[in-house]
Amino acid sequence: MNDQAEPLVMREELRDEHAHERALGAPLPHESADAHVSGEARYTDDIPELHGTVHAALGLARHAHARIVALDLERVRSSPGVVAVLTAADIPGENDCGPVVHDDPVLASDVVQYLGQPVFAVIATSHELARRAAALAASDDVVRYEPLEPVLSIEEARKRQHYVLPPLRLMRGAPDTALAAAPHRLAGTFAVGGQEQFYLEGQVAYALPQEQTGMLVYSSTQHPSEMQQVVAHLLGWPAHRVSCECRRMGGGFGGKESQSAVFACVAALAAHKLQRPVKLRADRDDDFMITGKRHDALYTYEAGYDDEGRLLGARVEIALRAGYSADLSGAVATRAVCHFDNAYYLPDVEIVALCCKTNTQSNTAFRGFGGPQGALVMEVMLDEIARTLGRDPLDVRRANYYGIGERDVTPYGQRVEDNVLAPLTDDLLASSRYRDRRAAIAAYNRTSPVLKRGLALTPVKFGISFNVPHLNQAGALVHVYRDGSVLVNHGGTEMGQGLNTKVAQVVAGTLGLPLARVRVSAADTSKVANTSATAASTGSDLNGKAAEDAALTIRARLAAFAAAQYGGAPENVAFEDGLVQANGKAIAFAEFVELAYMKRVQLWSDGFYATPKVHWDARTLTGHPFYYFAYGAAVSEVVVDTLTGEWKLVRADVLHDAGQSINPAIDLGQVEGGFIQGMGWLTTEELWWNRDGRLMTHAPSTYKIPAVSDTPEAFNVRLYRSGGNDNVEPTVFRSKAVGEPPLLLPFSVFLAIRDAVGAAVPEAREAAPLRAPATPEAILDALDALRAREPAALRALQP
Ligand code: MTE
Ligand code: MOS
Repeated sequence: MNDQAEPLVMREELRDEHAHERALGAPLPHESADAHVSGEARYTDDIPELHGTVHAALGLARHAHARIVALDLERVRSSPGVVAVLTAADIPGENDCGPVVHDDPVLASDVVQYLGQPVFAVIATSHELARRAAALAASDDVVRYEPLEPVLSIEEARKRQHYVLPPLRLMRGAPDTALAAAPHRLAGTFAVGGQEQFYLEGQVAYALPQEQTGMLVYSSTQHPSEMQQVVAHLLGWPAHRVSCECRRMGGGFGGKESQSAVFACVAALAAHKLQRPVKLRADRDDDFMITGKRHDALYTYEAGYDDEGRLLGARVEIALRAGYSADLSGAVATRAVCHFDNAYYLPDVEIVALCCKTNTQSNTAFRGFGGPQGALVMEVMLDEIARTLGRDPLDVRRANYYGIGERDVTPYGQRVEDNVLAPLTDDLLASSRYRDRRAAIAAYNRTSPVLKRGLALTPVKFGISFNVPHLNQAGALVHVYRDGSVLVNHGGTEMGQGLNTKVAQVVAGTLGLPLARVRVSAADTSKVANTSATAASTGSDLNGKAAEDAALTIRARLAAFAAAQYGGAPENVAFEDGLVQANGKAIAFAEFVELAYMKRVQLWSDGFYATPKVHWDARTLTGHPFYYFAYGAAVSEVVVDTLTGEWKLVRADVLHDAGQSINPAIDLGQVEGGFIQGMGWLTTEELWWNRDGRLMTHAPSTYKIPAVSDTPEAFNVRLYRSGGNDNVEPTVFRSKAVGEPPLLLPFSVFLAIRDAVGAAVPEAREAAPLRAPATPEAILDALDALRAREPAALRALQP
């Protein structure tokens, strides 16, 4: 923590009676901002290596599906620098790191199930030498395979009913009857690609054997408790022998929720076998080849609607590529089902989600966790309905918005209680001048033969909480030291999202201290136990509340002590501006805690939080899975070159609801980052496997994530000033989670591109059949398809 941060932000607020409240909402810099930019921030690979440290690398399968006939590792063992080579046979406990279903071997034994699956681990004196020896996995004489038939596409898996988990189905009302009775109907298919998390810091673990058969694992993970658990299972140990620590990640984005496990497990296995510290850091290409990504999806849908475009009945099947194992696909599919509605009321509806089993990487969490895949198809459907009716898509969207007090129950049975969709949209419409620009764009398109502009507004409603109720709990530990400085530990992990900053603000605010007095330490399973993954955007809601609980306990003890010392009632003792004020006396916090210590008052406490109200029936897919909803909307304008398929986002206006933001600077950063990351998913990031099931886009040379230059020149991002979260039991300082929901805002970019493509063939009167990602190829394909559908007479008139 930077000491200068304190006077900068606090100066004018010092001695103000609401100072701590305002510090809570202040746009403070990230607690590691200086360390990030100076290169001082320590990531797992930066931890100074202990003497005797050796390095691991993984030998990967070169078939998508094959039986291992023979392993001859002699050549690998005799390679320069190699200390050991380990296979599944070396695992003393369970050879599995699946987070839910036990179908995820750490090292493949009999059969390999995707091209890139780890088969053996090489441990060598250097990272380079380990990688060189592991690369021998590609030669025939090291691993001999008998190829089996792979299933490589969603279509194929769906045809064979090849699933990693049983299909999910949610039905409300009588969609068949509603569809049959509707004045208009449409049916269609749509496809969206997957997405690599592309955290800047790759997967890495560093395992250190401890005395009396213990293991300390430094892991770049969103889920230290699960790393502890899988390592313990792998070694056949009770959990208390393993601890896992993570100070920070250089990004996780869901990719380090379960999939940090194989790296933690192999490092720990090797460390145990050799009784030496072992580090395993995956090279970027290996990381791409080994780990799962966002699920790509194929959709089949049907909708019935009236003249206004109001949905009367809908049916959708979302076929997700799960990859070879279950991983978190069940939860991802559940969230997809629960986000199909997005911002819209669906009276009669059937939603089916399939977790298709393919011989590819096991797909996993990625920002939004299936929510984006669920909601995207709804937006595409509404866009199509608007085209067929000749209406502005925004009007069709608004006709379907959830209402207040009516049309407010989601297909899964939860009421939408805190709906701000309408006022939020009004605000954005005005600030973005949507209507004027719509007219201007139409005029531009009439006279511009090659460049076409497109515009779209899309809303988002995103459910906050884990769908699995028991995961909605968190713990924290707050220590006040005798000098008045405070150390906080909590169950969440910092991955750049600013969780530690927010938790420190919560504790500082609760104890009336400047932020510089509070430091947050690394997530550590030996400090706070049984933590949930930092995921589902719940990090600050859960851990902020737990830390607040601990700080309140300490404050109550101190207040009681102050009242006893100085008179007055404990509830009248104030903690503000670094002072404790009781019965007309003011004493510096540091001085006061030293007094309390001398009188044996406990100056540290644990804290706990369990989200109220959430429940879920996994059989019927109904209940109250979310404590509340976060809302937002975005307007995007693009210009598309209809000869080359190139495009540019020229302007985006975003309004997002973060409740009473604890830190608007961090929240704005989350909104901007989520928007650009989601735009990458829907436009430039394309994963492509060849006929053998080899992922060919496994490096930045072939896989294009957005760059700074892809940020629109006009990027107007604002936080929506709602009354905050008005649940009966408020969230932490009435803030709302902001980590994932903004990823859905760039649906507007994709639909603006579709709008522009449609403008190129105005006679077509139907939505452009544009798939996602909208690469230049996809845009040209959509133009071709649209032109081919128009009547021949019109086509003849084209230049
Ligand atoms: N922001 C940064 N900078 N890096 C990340 O890895 N992960 C996202 C989001 N924002 C991520 C991020 C994801 S997937 C989630 S679930 C949330 O942060 C998790 O953090 P939170 O719950 O504390 O918001
Ligand atoms: Mo985020 S996908 O829930 O880690």
